[in-house]
Amino acid sequence: MNILVLGSGGREHTFAWKIAQSPLCKALYVAPGNSGTAEIATNVNIGVTDFEGIKNLVLEKQIELVVVGPEDPLVKGIHDFFLNDETIKHVPVIGPQKKAAELEGSKEFAKEFMIRHNIPTAAYESFTKETVEQGYAFLETLKPPYVLKADGLAAGKGVVILNNLDKAKAELKSMLVDAKFGAASTKVVIEEFLDGIELSCFVLTDGSNYKILPTAKDYKRIGEGDTGLNTGGMGAVSPVPFATNEFLSKIEERIVKPTIEGFKKDKLPYVGFVFIGLIKVGDDPKVIEYNVRMGDPETEVVFPRLKNDLVEVLQAMAKGTLNTIDIEIDNRAATTIMVVSGGYPEAYEKGKEITGIDTIKESIPFHAGAQLKDGKVVTSGGRVISITSYGNTYQEAIKKSYQSIEKLHFDKMYYRKDIGFDL
Ligand code: AMP
Ligand code: GLY
Repeated sequence: MNILVLGSGGREHTFAWKIAQSPLCKALYVAPGNSGTAEIATNVNIGVTDFEGIKNLVLEKQIELVVVGPEDPLVKGIHDFFLNDETIKHVPVIGPQKKAAELEGSKEFAKEFMIRHNIPTAAYESFTKETVEQGYAFLETLKPPYVLKADGLAAGKGVVILNNLDKAKAELKSMLVDAKFGAASTKVVIEEFLDGIELSCFVLTDGSNYKILPTAKDYKRIGEGDTGLNTGGMGAVSPVPFATNEFLSKIEERIVKPTIEGFKKDKLPYVGFVFIGLIKVGDDPKVIEYNVRMGDPETEVVFPRLKNDLVEVLQAMAKGTLNTIDIEIDNRAATTIMVVSGGYPEAYEKGKEITGIDTIKESIPFHAGAQLKDGKVVTSGGRVISITSYGNTYQEAIKKSYQSIEKLHFDKMYYRKDIGFDL
């Protein structure tokens, strides 16, 4: 079949890498793609929210399956766009419809969903410009640190955690009254701080059946020891060593099952990936957030451990027959280290030539912010390339990734040297 992947990051290179291995895949297109996807698929220069452009591509190339990488097109309703168009409604889209995508698009929607379905999460209240005074009063009832979340999508920057009450009040005012995050902070969720270690759980669903993929832990801060600004993710490890079978079964019983049941009860059609951000508080999992897509760079460690033919799995998701699939996981650990442009996540330069990629043999280089230009691979984003390795232990895999990175070079390249330090 002809397949289209939407997106241009390391996650989408990993999707393309895995799909291209399937004998069921005849032609693979990625829009817009990057220098990594260009090696194994046909890149088409169409943006992920250019729905008309995507429709034309689907018709022209007779695409039979669309896999959506990032959240933006889902929250903007790409799945609904397909269903509402006679000429493409027969083409399955992997990714939820707009209503369910609100789980990521609105923190308040996600919190209400969790409360309604008894899914463990932090206590919260939400406020608007009109109720900012009540917001101050609510902050006064909490103990620090204070967690403030812009309701809408804010490019991963909408969560602010502060230790000081006055600063928290000022931040609340800045979000609600001064529209710090634009429309995304028209509403703000204030929630109880959860103290624990984070991990992520990935679930595939066809709307009624589900399968759980391996857990992963990512490293969000730019600096070593988890310090400095938040990024999209600087590295990841799978499986998560502290996620014992007992803990995993708590996640399944208390969180995954009620989430999938919740989709059915609330009539939220959901064919796609559910990325559940968790925190282990004592011995219990609590949900920090839902994302309606795979994680990046978590995909770069989760998919390499998936032994199944991904196209077979995606087809079963689209057909509602996920119950017929047995997910098979590679026992080895996988780790990935994200190599980024110096300056990221703040201002950084682009267009730097990347050398040495072809000399990496012991790891898999997944391209992220990298593009082909005049036959050379050059940097085009903050997160540039993610170096994934397997190992019998996560320590062995991490070591391999660091050895492979030594072969890579571009001006002002940076990466964290302590991925896995806290395990
Ligand atoms: P989010 O965008 O919701 O994933 O939040 C970003 C980060 O803020 C998370 O990865 C956590 O590290 C942190 N965080 C969010 N909510 C809480 C909470 N209730 N307690 C402690 N940390 C939190
Ligand atoms: N790595 C975190 C995310 O994809 O949201």
